[in-house]
Amino acid sequence: MVSVNVEIKARDPDPEATAARCRALGASDEGVLEQRDTYFAGRHGRLKLREEKGSGAELIAYRRPDTTEPEESAFIRTDVGEPGVLAEALTTALGTTVVVVKRRRLFIWENVRIHLDDVEGLGTFIELEALVGPGLNDRDEAARKVGRLRSELEISDDALVAVGYSDLLLDGAEALLRAADGAMRAAYAPYSKFKVGAAVRASSGAIYAGANVENVAFPQGQCAEASALGALVAAGESAITAAAVVAEKVEVCPPCGGCRQRLAEFGSAQTPVYLGRPGAVPVTTTLAELLPLSFGRSELDA
Ligand code: THU
Repeated sequence: MVSVNVEIKARDPDPEATAARCRALGASDEGVLEQRDTYFAGRHGRLKLREEKGSGAELIAYRRPDTTEPEESAFIRTDVGEPGVLAEALTTALGTTVVVVKRRRLFIWENVRIHLDDVEGLGTFIELEALVGPGLNDRDEAARKVGRLRSELEISDDALVAVGYSDLLLDGAEALLRAADGAMRAAYAPYSKFKVGAAVRASSGAIYAGANVENVAFPQGQCAEASALGALVAAGESAITAAAVVAEKVEVCPPCGGCRQRLAEFGSAQTPVYLGRPGAVPVTTTLAELLPLSFGRSELDA
């Protein structure tokens, strides 16, 4: 069955204040949802597997009009019994493009869903989503309610975002891959002839890149990730929200074991790591996937 929503999305620098406004409007607080969306490389539209902590999983196919206007978007969804197997099947056949991990605080006001989203690697957002259908809203009503909420919640024009979280993350990945690629071209790798570039995004949003720097005394060589992290620290920063690695000779260069530990020092379990080349869909993984059962501060503090 095809369903229709009227929706807008905007950046929200102060979700606490927005939550207070939602309550003042009489919106019901439906609690926090922890969602992980895996996007597959569909040819005609978007296809994502949504897994929700403590609840089931669903597969959603949709087309998204990229606009800041309240727009209708049609989608098809179905419950999924075995999300792990389905993810593996779809990844094998289509490949994944990006994984979006978020904490969603849900309010409902007159059949309009209000999402206060904290998205890993992107920050905080608000979405208004009016469901259209029998017993819900008709199309005009949906648009009117979204407009009314927009003004009540003081969502300004310049806060509006026209694209989905997956696009924002992929844009972010592309910027990181470009920075890593630029550094890779300058790599000093006369012995292995294996040039590597890495880039990290700091919590400030700035990107720091570095290349591998080899030495005739081989053990003195340094990996690209270490160089990028050195640049981050030298700039006075100490946390990363994403990383990318590019190599000249291979399309996907998995970070070496030591660099997984180095990256983990500055990121979190869910920090995305993009492996690939600019201009192509990268392999997206996370620090937790790269370094399971990792040694961290909690062990040291025990
Ligand atoms: N290298 C990196 O820069 N990062 C990695 O994660 C893997 C390996 C470099 C080290 C050395 O200069 C060359 O690649 C061959 O091992």
